[in-house]
Amino acid sequence: MDHFLYRDGQLYTEDVAIAEIAAEVGTPFYCYSTATLERHFRLFDDALEGMDHLVCYAMKAASNQAILKTLAQVGAGMDVVSGGEYARARAAGVPGERIVFSGVGKTREEMRSALEGGIRQFNLESEPEMRALSEIAQTLGVVAPVTVRVNPDVDAKTHAKIATGKSENKFGIPIARAREVYAEAAALPGLDVIGIDVHIGSQLTELEPFRLAYEKVADLTEMLRADGHDIRRLDLGGGLGIPYTRSNDAPPLPTEYGQLIRETVGHLGCEVEIEPGRLIAGNAGVLVTKVIYVKSGEGREFLILDGAMNDLIRPAMYEAHHDIIPVVEPAPGLAKATYDIVGPVCESGDTFAKEREMPPVSEGELVAFRSAGAYGAVMASEYNTRPLVPEVLVNGHQFAVIRARPTFDEMINRDTIPEWL
Ligand code: LLP
Repeated sequence: MDHFLYRDGQLYTEDVAIAEIAAEVGTPFYCYSTATLERHFRLFDDALEGMDHLVCYAMKAASNQAILKTLAQVGAGMDVVSGGEYARARAAGVPGERIVFSGVGKTREEMRSALEGGIRQFNLESEPEMRALSEIAQTLGVVAPVTVRVNPDVDAKTHAKIATGKSENKFGIPIARAREVYAEAAALPGLDVIGIDVHIGSQLTELEPFRLAYEKVADLTEMLRADGHDIRRLDLGGGLGIPYTRSNDAPPLPTEYGQLIRETVGHLGCEVEIEPGRLIAGNAGVLVTKVIYVKSGEGREFLILDGAMNDLIRPAMYEAHHDIIPVVEPAPGLAKATYDIVGPVCESGDTFAKEREMPPVSEGELVAFRSAGAYGAVMASEYNTRPLVPEVLVNGHQFAVIRARPTFDEMINRDTIPEWL
């Protein structure tokens, strides 16, 4: 069920007209749907029903406190990758025992703060990291629960910048060396080795790479158990893709993914964790912007928006496609126009789409980028001294600004002038 639909000629988020929010908040802004966030979490949770499991939302996808609280209230754990994310998860009321700490370069300070604040497990990615964590745990007089992230050398068949499971990627330890690395981990006094972690990439649109990776993890579980390790938890990572276009070739559903998990690792009796980010937040948010000008160029028309690459970097960074739709519903049968859709930032990379066919729109009209809830606001910057794009959360008939647009003074006053100036 889609909670971003036209109603009475207007685009709505749940029961709130986007134009109404724009009138109050100004543009551009991100707008999220509570019902969609909750629904997507439940799809995963239900897909693993009957297995001992925890869905740990990969909060890097969208980490506003209100989003974290919404998901935590329906039972989500969190996957964090920095001290900042750990602090955010705790501030949103997520208990330490529901937080897993991933990432290839956790610092000693980050490890210490998570050990002190409470943590479900660390997913370790190298031997130096194992040794550092063991040392810190010892100085604190605790034992850190850990998994080791293995790199299964599987092609995730996704964009090169977001594939992580091939041997040339920086992530995890090569699965072929796992027994040796586990032997060392088990011998470190500050660590309790409880499981295995794997994550092969993001925006996967087929199940096969997951199957290959999880089968390898299942084999490894048996091998490590035979070596005497008490492997009782498997963290299977995130990565299930979302439809970015309304076409027929939709990625597999969470139910099919859950079925695959049962088939590949269900017989091992392990507790299972997954770390979905994009599928929970991606289609739960839109970026709303306004057309500043329609400019005629050489053989093309530019739609110049007040949203830019600093607000949504995915098209510039990953050649990502986002559907862009008018907020006022186009009349049925209206002929499409073709635009190059760009922002006002001073570089050609600030292009959202080339030769995009869409209903004609004019100056002052609002358009919405669909599927912008994940890796949108969190990757935004203030490049060109454009205020960090605000966020709004809708829940039924209500909406609230969950991060306000900073004023120019607030932005400028973050800088400090040295005394010699
Ligand atoms: N777990 C780990 C260890 C990860 O590195 C990631 C994503 C996830 C879970 C969540 O993956 P998801 O379910 O969201 O696919 N900025 C890029 C995506 C980067 C993903 C990084 N890691 C984009 O906009 O496409």
